[in-house]
Formats: sequence, C-alpha cells, structure tokens
Amino acid sequence: MPETMVAKHAQWPRVADPIFNISEKAQAAIKSLGKENVINATIGALTDDDGNIITLNTVFDEYKSLPNSEIAAYASIAGQKDYLEAVKKACFKDSMPDAHIRAVATPGGSGAIKLAVWNYTNEGDEILTSDWFWSPYVSISEEVGRKVTTYQLFNEYNNFNFNSFRERFLNIASKQERIFTILNTPAHNPTGYSVPDNDWDKILNLSKEVAQNPEKKIILFVDVAYIDFVKDDDGCRKFFEKFTNLPENILVIVGFSMSKGFTAYGMRMGAAICISSSEDVAEQFYYSCVHSCRANWSNCNRGPMKVLTNIINNPEKYKEYMDEKKIYKEMLSKRAEVFVEEAKKCELDILPYIDGFFISIPCEDPKAVSEELTKDNVFVVPLKRGLRFAVCAVSEEKCAIAPSIIKNALERVRGQMLARD
Ligand SMILES: Cc1ncc(COP(=O)(O)O)c(C=O)c1O
Repeated sequence: MPETMVAKHAQWPRVADPIFNISEKAQAAIKSLGKENVINATIGALTDDDGNIITLNTVFDEYKSLPNSEIAAYASIAGQKDYLEAVKKACFKDSMPDAHIRAVATPGGSGAIKLAVWNYTNEGDEILTSDWFWSPYVSISEEVGRKVTTYQLFNEYNNFNFNSFRERFLNIASKQERIFTILNTPAHNPTGYSVPDNDWDKILNLSKEVAQNPEKKIILFVDVAYIDFVKDDDGCRKFFEKFTNLPENILVIVGFSMSKGFTAYGMRMGAAICISSSEDVAEQFYYSCVHSCRANWSNCNRGPMKVLTNIINNPEKYKEYMDEKKIYKEMLSKRAEVFVEEAKKCELDILPYIDGFFISIPCEDPKAVSEELTKDNVFVVPLKRGLRFAVCAVSEEKCAIAPSIIKNALERVRGQMLARD
C-alpha cells in the first residue's frame, strides 16, 4: 500500500479546525445544560439573543422573489455586468476613488483573497499581514506555496504599530520584487480594530517611497469583509478616496463580501475590486482574474448577485435594507459597548475594539484559558496570541457577565502556571 495517495504538494497535517472543535463543545454544552446556561462566543455570524442566525428579510424576500431562471442560469465568468457595477457602489458608496476600477465576482471574500494571492505573488513569496489575523490567510497562501509573515498590529500604546509595519514592509521590499500586504480594515477580525486615516497616509507614503523603484510592485489587499457592520458607514469609507492617483506600480485590491453585510454567508458571493491609476493595469487585473475564475470555480452564484444589484439600484429597497440592518448594527454595538465597559471595570485587558464582530483578549497559553473557561460553560476561540470573543453571537446580558468570568479563568490559569514553574 502506498503511504499516501495524495500528491506531495497537497499533503497537510491532519489538524482539526480549532474553531469548529470548540464550537462543537459549545453545542454539546447547550444540549445538556440549556442555552441560558452557556455562553457560546465561538460563532462567526450575527445571531439573536437565543443564538439563532439573523437573516435580513430585505435580502431573503428579494432572493425568494427572483424567477427560478435568475437563480438557475449560469452567470458570466467575471460576474453579471450589472452586479459588477452595483458591487462598486455597495463597496465605496460616496468614497469611490478617482481611478480605473474593475471588479470580478468571487465566491465570498475568500475567493477574492485567493485570486489576489495567486495572481499577484510568486511562488515562495512572503505575504505581509498583522500578527492578529484571520487564519485562512495562511491556508490560502500556503496552498499555493506562499508564506505569511507578520508585523505587530499594536504598539505599546495600543495604536497602529507603523514602525513594525514599516520594518517588515521594507524587509520584504529588500528581497522581493512584489510586496503584497493584507490589511483587514475596518472592523478587523479578530480584534475589531480599524486602521485610522492618518496611519493610512503613512502606509501609502511608505508604499510610494518604495514605488519610486520601478522594479517594485506593491499590492495592497484591503479585506473589507466587515465594512457593512461599522457604525459610521460613510466615515469608515473615507480612506478609499486616498487610492486616487497612486503610482502605477501600486495596485489596491479590495476584497468585498456579501457574507456579513447581507447576512448571506452560505450564498458565497463577493468581489475582488482593483483600483489603479493605469487603465492597462486594471485591464490586466480583470483578464488574469477571469482566467483564474474559469480555472477554479468557473462562474459564481447568480441569485445573490441579482439580490445585491436589485437592492443597491432601487432607492426604496436600499432604504429598507439599510433600515433593517441598522437595527442589528445597533444591537451589535450595544453588546460590544457593554463588553468593553465591563472589561474595564474588572480590569480585563482587551485589544482596542472599534467595530465589528469580535473582541480579542491577549493572554499567555490561550488554549489552556479557553479550556479553563469551558468549566464555566463559556466557549471562546483560542488564537495564537489570545482569545477571540464573538460579540456578534452573544446577548448583551451575557456580554455583561463574560469579562469577569474570563478574568477569573485567566487568573486561575496564571496561578497554575506559577505553581508549575
Ligand atoms: C477577515 C475575514 N476576511 C474575509 C472573510 C471572508 O468570508 P467569506 O468568504 O464568507 O465572504 C471573513 C469571513 O469570516 C473574514 O473573517
């Protein structure tokens, strides 16, 4: 018998996904103890106070009103033309950069990351992102022979650590032709942080400095998966305007997703949107992505494309959708506000949260703390550098009690560590 039938490049360690692991434990606890006695902060989707997934009626009524043919038929490889226009409007709103902008439909934001990584890096390249990051960035990069390297997201004042960013960025620039950076902002997963506009200026100035060498190719991938759940809809988009008039060897690719903003996680719809001062660079983007789409998933889901198009292009439907979403945005920000307040009161150290689905708690040995918390029937995701608490999935009432429970568990684990040393 051969040791494995899997080709060498496709052999990976058999590790269970840590999120699904802990989430399964939470489900089991809910079954045996009842949901009122369990805090399940592992889910990456917006849920009501009982833990049921929230779905926007304005989105699903629209979907269900589509003729079958609009759902069943193949879509264009690049995505339907009207969707590609509408998705730009949905993404940029009033902050559309003055540039050549081309979009390609993708299966969720994940598809956009895949297209950008594959088409804009070389084998063996290092890809830069922050030390707190969404782990699929690594899977997507490793799958195609790229490596993720990180800068420290925060400095000692809990501000954006531009010095660390600069150091890593220049290090990559010194050894690679391509400097590909993933910035997940606004409402970063897992911290809820957003890169402030003045730090965007620094990032762009640094990029322009490096871009003076015409041999260098700078790609800024901006993952905006959570943008539609940011409190300040317009303010959080202002940074897009800074992408006007960039040098031709700086390309911005925005990864847009319908998963959160339209509560359409399983519909698998998104877009990769490029912004360039060069029409030719934008055209190249389009054709290389279309080739990859054909080679990977052919075309995307036609139904959700139509849903977004119909909602964005119809002022009445758009208003209804925004009004409905506002209720849940307020629910989310109230939960987070309560969590942050209580964390402060009980002196639980958390990372700076601004917007989004998650709050992070830095700690040593996150696995042990997450395990310890299961004794209190609190389930959180252990990351490399801390815990991820999903405020998107926990009621305000439970968000108020969770920080002190976490603080106590942290202290117990610290005590056990000290006793061992
Ligand atoms: C940081 C981040 N980027 C991108 C995505 C993409 O999600 P999807 O492929 O469902 O659009 C997610 C989803 O959880 C995410 O957390």
